[in-house]
Amino acid sequence: MLASWPLEPGLTYLNHGTVGVTPLRVLEAQRQIRDDIERNPSRYLLRELTEIVVGAPTGRQPRLRAAADAVGEFLGVPGDDLAFVDNTTTGANAILRSLEFEPGDEIVVSDFGYGGVTRAVAFAAREHGATVRTAAMPYPIASAEDVVSAFVAALGAKTRLAVVDHISSQSALVLPLAAIAAACRARGIAVLADGAHAPGAVALDIPSLGVDWYVGNLHKWMWVPRSSGILWTSPARQKSLHAAVISWGLDCGFHAEFDLPGTRDPSPHLSAPAAIAFMRELGVDAVRGYNHALAWQGAQFLADRWGTEFSTPESFIGTMATVALPPALGASADDASRLRDTLLHDERIEVQLHSFRDRLYVRICGQIYNEMSDIERLADAVSGLVRV
Ligand SMILES: Cc1ncc(COP(=O)(O)O)c(C=O)c1O
Repeated sequence: MLASWPLEPGLTYLNHGTVGVTPLRVLEAQRQIRDDIERNPSRYLLRELTEIVVGAPTGRQPRLRAAADAVGEFLGVPGDDLAFVDNTTTGANAILRSLEFEPGDEIVVSDFGYGGVTRAVAFAAREHGATVRTAAMPYPIASAEDVVSAFVAALGAKTRLAVVDHISSQSALVLPLAAIAAACRARGIAVLADGAHAPGAVALDIPSLGVDWYVGNLHKWMWVPRSSGILWTSPARQKSLHAAVISWGLDCGFHAEFDLPGTRDPSPHLSAPAAIAFMRELGVDAVRGYNHALAWQGAQFLADRWGTEFSTPESFIGTMATVALPPALGASADDASRLRDTLLHDERIEVQLHSFRDRLYVRICGQIYNEMSDIERLADAVSGLVRV
């Protein structure tokens, strides 16, 4: 499948999860959309794109709404409950900045949380005199019960909001989001789910998760061009939610407000149907199954080769897996950064590396352009560095 992707020849790309890669066919669909826009940009962007129109309403469904319906159909939610956002960070900011916290209120995050989102939480808390509490998660992970208990232990009488990853970033774990959300709900705590890595990677049934808001990226595992994210919110929450950027759609409803954050290139969002069509042609379950198997088997292979531990139960693995590196390669964030550079510049391997609790880890991603030989190259490269 490598030929269907624009990746540089000779590059071993094991980092699909970070910013995604777009298949050539979807890039071509995006190019056609851009060409269409340029034939008459005013008509396309001001009359056809959103519910806010210049001139007499056309009576046709706005183009962004049609794309939202296609994405909703793929994700199993009504398109009406979805807004497009540039990315997960923007979606999370919209939610956090729509909430009114009182001084002394608490927001709970976890130490698996993504730094960009955690900083947005810290900012929202700071603006209102609220505080942030960080749940210390068990690692390595053994059971869903341990994860839920660790999160619940951080909830208190003043907790108003919990920010929970669906699939964590560095540790690459599919977390028991529904169970955590149920525990929060039982305490009257609202839940913002960070699903940056979930659309396209795992089967999703967002309403059944019991969360209040769900943000995710289409430009990672759904093969949609950057920048494309979605924000789902339960209908009851739509009225009180505001976009991160306020423009003409203020007070005109959920769609109008989110669909028009000023002038922007809508072609990534509008390319979502082409990405969905490509994945369906290949078989959504087949793609997910292949990616999962490669991440899961690859992680065990690496740990075996390096003599490090990989004890994550398979149920926590989606399409990425995180494995401990040999201790001889260091432990700090600087060590991780140096090693990442060495792998890229000397070995032409692009992979995510990080330091967590004084240990270095590598996160591998399985995507249909990868195969086991990519993981073997990584195994050899790292083993070679240990010997040096
Ligand atoms: C868990 C998680 N949340 C949020 C993000 C941010 O995504 P974006 O930069 O597309 O907003 C990432 C990015 O990798 C992530 O892993």
